[in-house]
Amino acid sequence: MDGHGVPSDPSLGHLAGSKVENHDVAATTATQGQPSTQQHTTHSSEYPETNVIMVDAPHDMLLEVDMADHDSAIGDVTTSYEFHFRTSSSQHYDVGESYSPTTSSTGSIVSLSRRAFSDSSKKTEEPTTVTRKDTEQERLDLQHQLFLLTFGNKLHLAPTEELHQVLDIGTGTGIWCIEFALRNPQSHVTGTDLSPIQPELTPPNCTFEVDDAEDEWVFPHQFDLVHGRTLASCFKDPQKVINSATASIKPGGWLEFQDIILPARGFDDSYTGSYVDQWCTKLVALAARAGRDFSYSQHYRQMFQAAGLVDIQERHFVWPTSPWCKGEHLKKLSLWAQKDFLDGIEGMSMALMTRVGGMSREEVLEFLEKVKEDARNKNMHGFMPIIVVMGRKAS
Ligand SMILES: C[S@@+](CC[C@H](N)C(=O)[O-])C[C@H]1O[C@@H](n2cnc3c(N)ncnc32)[C@H](O)[C@@H]1O
Repeated sequence: MDGHGVPSDPSLGHLAGSKVENHDVAATTATQGQPSTQQHTTHSSEYPETNVIMVDAPHDMLLEVDMADHDSAIGDVTTSYEFHFRTSSSQHYDVGESYSPTTSSTGSIVSLSRRAFSDSSKKTEEPTTVTRKDTEQERLDLQHQLFLLTFGNKLHLAPTEELHQVLDIGTGTGIWCIEFALRNPQSHVTGTDLSPIQPELTPPNCTFEVDDAEDEWVFPHQFDLVHGRTLASCFKDPQKVINSATASIKPGGWLEFQDIILPARGFDDSYTGSYVDQWCTKLVALAARAGRDFSYSQHYRQMFQAAGLVDIQERHFVWPTSPWCKGEHLKKLSLWAQKDFLDGIEGMSMALMTRVGGMSREEVLEFLEKVKEDARNKNMHGFMPIIVVMGRKAS
């Protein structure tokens, strides 16, 4: 970085002078799922092997270091922000198009208690004890809000037409399905997962099933849209899953995957060798040793092509690691992303680093403290690339 916002990472060369391509997605949010008039179709999906990174953003903004923000090097959500977000089992769904997660400048992190969907008898219950499992589920629900914030409140970006049957694989807490069902009462949405952690009470047009997406797909009907989010590393053979999904889509229907790309990237030299950089490298390498590929999300386009899908579109977004960049929206996004990262890092790391990496639990915790400190440092300009790939089944 030359001190004027010019990145020195050669893979980010086109960002020089902050000439990041941004698009006003917000202007198109009124029609759920309709494409931006300025869709990215010109860049390669090879990421980061090419020198091209396209960045979508819900508002007109530039990815640029905020040089004027001298108040503190620490950009820390846990000390300065209060988070309110809906959970998969909360009654309080706001399905308005203008939705944006709220933050306030005082207080500590607050989340809504997990309650049975539309079970009014439980309205006054105190928040349930947060177990380890609940904590991860709360994080997934927070991450759902982060994706909505990233995509201008859209649940999917594929330019779909009428949606009758929709499938969400690896649905987790089921929050995407529940919100989709509430927004689209004319559709039926099915969520599948290995784990039955979804709420029992759901909207009438939403059902959940335990299913392994890597097994043979035996649904009784085809789908207008198959969706999957943050599934990188879940599958031993992601191409097989994408092939099964393609076979289960109606002609003219869409497959859409939304994901984080690991390892994270640096906007400039401040990221190189940082603890976040080291953590990403270590995690990807250990997962590979354990037979899991944490980085396959960057190859979704090729997999969609290999499955025979057409009209493939790929879009890129960023989650800065801390509020190091200019612009109110990116700062807000970064605070949500940072909380997501800080809350999720131990769960992602512990088993791999102890069982595969041979580290003791104490060594892992000590290392993760340094990674967390780095992730709070506004002088370290890292970001998580977010990718959305959409493909249509030929009619
Ligand atoms: C990171 S979570 C993402 C949850 C959800 N898609 C979201 O965005 O909130 C990954 C989910 O995929 C599920 N999963 C992993 N492997 C799977 C498989 N082979 N078939 C179905 N679900 C799977 C896990 O149980 C977990 O709930």
